[in-house]
Amino acid sequence: MTRLPVNPGRRGRRILNAYNIMRRPRLVARRQAEKVSASSSSPTRSALNVVILISGRGSNMEAIVRAVQAGHIPNVSVRHVISNVADAPGMETARQHGIECSAISDMDKLAARLRQLKPDIVCMAGFMRIVPPEIVREHTVLNIHPSLLPMYPGLHAQRQALEDDAKWSGCTVHYADEGVDTGPIIVQYAVPVRPDDTEETLSGRILEKEHVAYPHAVMLVAGRIARERAQVTGGGGRGASTRQR
Ligand code: GRF
Repeated sequence: MTRLPVNPGRRGRRILNAYNIMRRPRLVARRQAEKVSASSSSPTRSALNVVILISGRGSNMEAIVRAVQAGHIPNVSVRHVISNVADAPGMETARQHGIECSAISDMDKLAARLRQLKPDIVCMAGFMRIVPPEIVREHTVLNIHPSLLPMYPGLHAQRQALEDDAKWSGCTVHYADEGVDTGPIIVQYAVPVRPDDTEETLSGRILEKEHVAYPHAVMLVAGRIARERAQVTGGGGRGASTRQR
């Protein structure tokens, strides 16, 4: 059996590495993977740029911003909030968090602005417009919907659940594609529907889960993008395509 040095010098470390590569390939692979993941969560790497689209209250936007501020979504920066409604209350909330805001109601202008901002992730958070196809083709776009998709897409999802006598509903964060409330699902959180629920009480219970689900989904997607870039660039750059469809 090969004897391994207890306190290896430089030569000893070389022998140990050679031994590991030959005899313990899984250990070597795991250490390499750990190095990649350590470098992708390192604060020295440039943060992924997130733009959030809103139309109203902006509570999901604020949940993402707070999660980033609390350090729960490493290496992500919310750079810009865009509302299609000029006086949306969420705009003021975003400004209070020091985030730059724009009001853009024209979807072609929105597409042009996003091209300038070059976001790594676009989050639609209560954004009540259908975005033009080029936006979902050019960017990684996420959406949140207050039901367990594919159940109850479209407007009044909570009312649809009550009218259907559903026992469970919840929320879904998914990649947006060219459809309405379609696209690959990232996370879903379920809540019970109670017999005495109204649209308001059910909406409130689902909203609490939305505020956990959206930061969770952004964290997963940002992690995936960082890992993909680390693999493509060998650990550093931001140039690789990251769209997943
Ligand atoms: C949320 O229920 C979201 O699921 C739906 O619109 C609502 C937006 O709420 N698409 P807020 O503006 O994030 O507070």
